[in-house]
Amino acid sequence: MGRKKVTVVGAGNVGSTCAVWIAAKELADVVLVDIVEGAAKGKALDLFEATPVLGKDVKLVGSKDYAETANSDVVIITAGVPRKKDPVTGQFPSRDELVKTNQAIVGEVAREVAKYSPDAVLVIVSNPLDAMCHVALNESKFPAHRVVGMAGALDTARYKSFIAMELGVSVKDIHGIVLGGHGDEMVPLPRHTSVAGIPVRELMSEERLQAIIERTRKGGGEIVGLIGVSAWYAPAAGAVDMAEAILKDQKRVIPSAVLLNGQYGYNNLYVGVPAVLGSGGVEKVIEMQLNDEEKAMLAKSSKAVSDVVAVLGY
Ligand code: APR
Repeated sequence: MGRKKVTVVGAGNVGSTCAVWIAAKELADVVLVDIVEGAAKGKALDLFEATPVLGKDVKLVGSKDYAETANSDVVIITAGVPRKKDPVTGQFPSRDELVKTNQAIVGEVAREVAKYSPDAVLVIVSNPLDAMCHVALNESKFPAHRVVGMAGALDTARYKSFIAMELGVSVKDIHGIVLGGHGDEMVPLPRHTSVAGIPVRELMSEERLQAIIERTRKGGGEIVGLIGVSAWYAPAAGAVDMAEAILKDQKRVIPSAVLLNGQYGYNNLYVGVPAVLGSGGVEKVIEMQLNDEEKAMLAKSSKAVSDVVAVLGY
């Protein structure tokens, strides 16, 4: 068995940070691809030059040529245009307004990747996330279990961070899950949130909990408001966590955007649900028993996703 290989498409903020963590964890050799070839080559070289210091054995290559990506085990797709402030109006476009631009980019990337790595698992990061999963699925023609979206990993991480901050306890002891689409209608589940097994509602008021849920829903926007562009550390951490589960066949349970075919009552729609991730990609969807309120929230979130998917024109 040779070394594992991960391609990261998009050598921007999220993509290059994915490469950093893959190298730091010595998970796989990395090919960074970008239409701006200098960025891909330069960042791969810079990072390779860090490996003697890190003491990590990882090959890093940058290119705009997909031939370099051949036979990757996992391909993380971050190519796209992030949310940026319009210099004239000072307004931020919504995630969903980026749909057409990023459809063209992700479509082209998925076709190229599929040509050279027909057996890879694709981890989609480009936004609007759930819609871009549909694009990658359609254009790669891969089976759905090998096209998975990174959203729940990030949304759940944000949710856990805020709970840990509120209670002044370790992030390691927070357990919880966020379902639904990666948008303002995502579905954090307080009933399934605990601190070392203690239900979160025993530890904070309903008012504080609802404030944390609201902050989680707006977590992406909070960072955009501070920096002016969308986040990269937490999104990259989420994507690399998923890649690691796949590369090491860990069977991790990570909330992921998965094409549902009947589960939770949805058909042919990418929705964020708990998924078992292993070498086969999405090996299983776990169906939670949701109450009526949670079902209603998931329905609202899924409706928001299908509205964006409709824009794709498939
Ligand atoms: N092929 C390859 N790379 C491309 C293409 C393409 N067709 N089009 C754009 N890119 C590259 C850009 O050149 C840039 O380097 O994608 C990279 C995107 O990087 P950033 O602009 O820094 O964006 P980033 O913050 O990394 O976010 C990427 O992830 O979280 C999502 O919303 C975010 O959709 C966005 C994506």
